[in-house]
Amino acid sequence: MRLGNVPQPFPYQGSKRKLAAVILDCIPKSTKRLVEPFAGSAAVSVAAAWTGRVEAFWLNDAHSALMSLWTQMLNAPHALADHYERIWSAQQGRERDHYNEVRERFNREHRPADFLFLLARCVKAAIRYNRNGEFNNSPDHRRLGMRPATMRKNILLVQQALGGRTTLTTGNYRNVLSKTKTNDLVYLDPPYQGVCKNRDNRYVQSVIFADFVEELERLNRHHVPYIVSYDGRTGDTTYGEKLPKSLDLVHTEILVGRSTQATLLGRSHDTYESLYLSPATMKKLGNLPPVLREDACVVPTLF
Ligand SMILES: C[S@@+](CC[C@H](N)C(=O)[O-])C[C@H]1O[C@@H](n2cnc3c(N)ncnc32)[C@H](O)[C@@H]1O
Repeated sequence: MRLGNVPQPFPYQGSKRKLAAVILDCIPKSTKRLVEPFAGSAAVSVAAAWTGRVEAFWLNDAHSALMSLWTQMLNAPHALADHYERIWSAQQGRERDHYNEVRERFNREHRPADFLFLLARCVKAAIRYNRNGEFNNSPDHRRLGMRPATMRKNILLVQQALGGRTTLTTGNYRNVLSKTKTNDLVYLDPPYQGVCKNRDNRYVQSVIFADFVEELERLNRHHVPYIVSYDGRTGDTTYGEKLPKSLDLVHTEILVGRSTQATLLGRSHDTYESLYLSPATMKKLGNLPPVLREDACVVPTLF
């Protein structure tokens, strides 16, 4: 599926915008609801709503400030856009001090528009907290963050796409999985293994590999269809542990970044991300979608 200009609710490190088109093609036609237990910026759900691929959605994330942002985006989009505009405009001429003030205020009050501004302005749109649970990422000095007019347009388009048909929750992914059904499609995009390991987990809980596998086994037993983004590799260097064969998943690798130097010391440095399709998903699809079989940018590997 080719995607037009799908709106982006907010910049977010780890967003699956690049993969959304491929993942949409893996969603069985009979799917009644798309569930994202690790929502982040929910690039896949936004794309599915935008293209009319699915009718109902459930977005969940363990990060409560993020889910407050989603709640205001879907329930009071004009107020959010107005507030962002006021914060963004107030930075002119004193950008660094203003960023620090907004960051301090966010750490005291956790207001969604402050969080949106921080995401738009900070380095790599990455959420970082210190040991005291305070957001501590620095501003990116090369840019001022998304302009208010563009932000407003995106917020309103995302609200039109997802508003009125999306359930929003904050909590651990396991609580969500226990409530999923056979006519759902669950898209799981946990933080990369290793990313969360050494981090203060006051706001974002870590995902233990063994627990995660156990949850997938349970989904298999209940015939709930799911798709997982988990590990990947750049050239010969892999990151993350592969999911076990016992889960009976179809594993594909998708080329997401082509190195400008095709080879360095004889090794390719292209970046691939893994996508796993569950037995129930494959049963509903009947076959891998053509994009995973034929596209030159996709290298399927079955096991
Ligand atoms: C890789 S990001 C998801 C990115 C998303 N697919 C997108 O398009 O933006 C992983 C998300 O999982 C959330 N998370 C981490 N641990 C979690 C947990 N135990 N339960 C639920 N969410 C969790 C993080 O807050 C983060 O937003």
